[in-house]
Amino acid sequence: MAERTCDVVIVGAGLIGLATAWRLAADGIQVTVCDPTPGSQTSSVAAGMLAPVTEVEYGEDALLALNLASVAAWPGFAQELETLTGQSAGLHRTGTLSIAYDADDAAAIHRLADYQRRLGLEVEELTGREARKREPLLAAGVSAGIWVPGDHSVDNRQAVATLLRAAELTGVQLVRQRVSRVLVSGTTAVGVELEDGSGIHAGQVIAATGPWSGQLEGVPAELRVPVRPLKGEILRLRVPEAYRPALNHTVRATARGFAVYLVPRPGGELVVGATTSELGYDTRVLAGGVFALLRDARMILPITDELELVEAVAGLRPATPDNAPILGPSGLDGLLWATGHYRNGVLLTPITAQLLAETVRTGAVPELAAPFQASRFSEVKLTR
Ligand code: GLY
Repeated sequence: MAERTCDVVIVGAGLIGLATAWRLAADGIQVTVCDPTPGSQTSSVAAGMLAPVTEVEYGEDALLALNLASVAAWPGFAQELETLTGQSAGLHRTGTLSIAYDADDAAAIHRLADYQRRLGLEVEELTGREARKREPLLAAGVSAGIWVPGDHSVDNRQAVATLLRAAELTGVQLVRQRVSRVLVSGTTAVGVELEDGSGIHAGQVIAATGPWSGQLEGVPAELRVPVRPLKGEILRLRVPEAYRPALNHTVRATARGFAVYLVPRPGGELVVGATTSELGYDTRVLAGGVFALLRDARMILPITDELELVEAVAGLRPATPDNAPILGPSGLDGLLWATGHYRNGVLLTPITAQLLAETVRTGAVPELAAPFQASRFSEVKLTR
């Protein structure tokens, strides 16, 4: 079997793997990315929200700092990609409107708004009437809203296509094969073996393996990362010309205690998401998932009934025990992780690529990445 060599081999050509490959190649590093179906998994299923404020969770302060750094990096990242490729990177700076359906929902979003304000985040509380002024097709019953000017969205499929082009233009080698294992010599990762039995030898391996990260063969058992798949079903609807734009901003709703989001795209697509289920690697679209999404979407946007249902698909979020990613050293020399992005993969794409490129260049973990090391999980194991 043919053997190849390069400076860095990246396992996984989702947004994270592609962006990291592009950044490294732009620095003059020889990069190979391996994936049988580039960009076809989580990166293509996602809705593409850039939502550091509206998705903030109580007590996740270090993650918030990373999320804010990445949302700030997105415009420059998109601009660079567009200049290089002549294609859109899919960034839509629309702001996000969080809305509440009934009085209990309103109490919940007001509590969250208090927390967001305490963190210094920019939010503006609205009455139901004010929310409907911004989005006239919302249901008359909407009781309150919160306007978040800094949360945007990206057409993630467009971003995948543009990153693939950018990778090609910067000389990244794409190998459309599955990696069967990381090759290890002593205590050092030295490359990967592909499913056809051939090898790629590299000074550095980066695992951008998303929900499959915990299963990467070749990684010693004690260094495996606790990344698990968290299923999400998502719908893509088409808004007829007569109703466009159905929404001007991303709308997130708490509707009778259920969470749903609606992300409009300029061409008339409306993405509705997402369910959350612990069902392992099951990516079947279940009737109950589609029902729940449509039930909640039509409660807040009644014209949902008039939209064409174009696609129902399920994907897997790469979840970690603390909802934060794993960025950097694995404990095995020569192997870095770029994984565990959970609900924030599209958002965290620019900052992950930047931090991983810096780690490769300097051999040190950048300060912003320090809280997101794999070692935080082995420490938990040792104290038990
Ligand atoms: N960030 C959206 C989701 O995980 O559904």
